[in-house]
Amino acid sequence: MTEKRPHLIIKNGTVVNDDFMIKADVLVMHGKIVAVDVNGNLSEKSIENDEPYRIIDATDKYVIPGGIDPHTHMQLPFMGQVAADDFFSGTCAAVAGGTTMIIDFVIPEKDENIIKAYEKWREWADAKVVCDYGLSMAITNWNEDVEFSMGEVVKSEYGINSFKFFLAYKNVFMVTDDQFYRGMKRCSELGALARVHAENGSVIHEKQRELIKQGVLGPEGHTQSRPEELEAEATHRACTLAEQAFCPLYVVHVMSKGAAKVIARHRQRGSVVFGEPIAAALGVDGSHYYDPDFNHAAGFVLSPPLSRDPTTPAALMDLLACGQLHVTATDNCTFNCQQKRMGFNDFTKIPNGVNGVEDRMSVVWEMGVHSGKITPMRFVAITSSTAARIFNCYPQKGRIAVDSDADIVIWNPTASRTISADTHHHAHDFNIFEGMLVHGVPEITISRGRVVWENNKLDVSPGEGNFVKLSPNCDYVYRSINVRKANYHPMVVDRKECEPRKQKSELSV
Ligand code: URP
Ligand code: ZN
Ligand code: ZN
Ligand code: ZN
Repeated sequence: MTEKRPHLIIKNGTVVNDDFMIKADVLVMHGKIVAVDVNGNLSEKSIENDEPYRIIDATDKYVIPGGIDPHTHMQLPFMGQVAADDFFSGTCAAVAGGTTMIIDFVIPEKDENIIKAYEKWREWADAKVVCDYGLSMAITNWNEDVEFSMGEVVKSEYGINSFKFFLAYKNVFMVTDDQFYRGMKRCSELGALARVHAENGSVIHEKQRELIKQGVLGPEGHTQSRPEELEAEATHRACTLAEQAFCPLYVVHVMSKGAAKVIARHRQRGSVVFGEPIAAALGVDGSHYYDPDFNHAAGFVLSPPLSRDPTTPAALMDLLACGQLHVTATDNCTFNCQQKRMGFNDFTKIPNGVNGVEDRMSVVWEMGVHSGKITPMRFVAITSSTAARIFNCYPQKGRIAVDSDADIVIWNPTASRTISADTHHHAHDFNIFEGMLVHGVPEITISRGRVVWENNKLDVSPGEGNFVKLSPNCDYVYRSINVRKANYHPMVVDRKECEPRKQKSELSV
């Protein structure tokens, strides 16, 4: 039986991995990369048995690993709405933008069993994804059932190796410091990575009430209720507690310089902590919250908010360039204008979230490579390979090499496009990058050996993506922590021989 996908011979391109780039041909068969030939000798003769094949000419193009977006929320029920991008439109947008794997979050309600929630997410996603995906599990409560179930979902049949804790969204997803600490101790026991949404949810709750009372009802209240200092404070707290729990930590959506500096400082003193700025924070700033048009301003509402400091996007890119921040994601969680209007008279009710999964690769290329701050190799590191390493699916993902999955993008560094909601593949009607000209365009996206995006057209079917099981005890995140754990012994002072002191009265006799 002939396969739906012909073998692919990608000729004359420059293969880019995170540690080298070189001119080479790439041969793809049955969803895998089977040859990378620097002599440029691959041809139809490399194909056996008269099987169908296709030659792709990648002259003057880069051949890069498909992007991995480790932070999305497709069809998330949140703040009384359901995110507009489901696993179909969300992954269509992903592959149209050169991303071939997402890691989405199972987010159980506080009283929901986490295995039940996991099954629900699998059911939603398996039927709809057009590219591969993995899952991370949010811990929104703490009790014996949660503690036990964490141990279940890291087992190979479930494939979860990271848990996320919210220090924001009081009364919804937020956990207290003791719950967070216990959760990270449990992660450490299981060899799982802890991830954190770092904002001080209790103080934000207070500030929201103060602002509403003062008559600040619009989206400008969103940014004023969430000052950057509350992100930096929670980031510091999270890093400190993770050190105490011997747990590696991954800070999602690093939105401000303050939070980024906290991560850098903790790394300098040996913490295993990773920082993830998102496309939104790299491409736009928080000035939009003051726009007089509610629909426009509300379209940018996400948490933590975009920075009001216009120099933040460039500063975050600088930190990605020098290695103080590590991966880029999107936090893709989209809502239509109509959904955002739920908060027309009360900014606390505007569903939080923005787009990014389609445009991340181009925004990072524009701000990073096109601006001259990073090399194409660093681009690969921060858009796919480091995420693959952290989430323990490297080099299956994130590398152009023999035996890796054929998740490949033919990247044209000289082509450009203007981002717009009119042409994007998301299900929602607003794009935070509207009008932005980006150089660097994914011309062809290949998912597990099949061309799914070419000539600005998708060729996908819902459900054809695979669930990627992610296993715990990843050396990249746990190796040094395990040594520290083994070397740590609580100090006990032996006082067996210690006699009680003589009473004053006895001494004076
Ligand atoms: O505003 C955001 N970020 N929405 C999605 C949920 C989260 O906090 O990650
Ligand atoms: Zn978050
Ligand atoms: Zn600190
Ligand atoms: Zn998120």
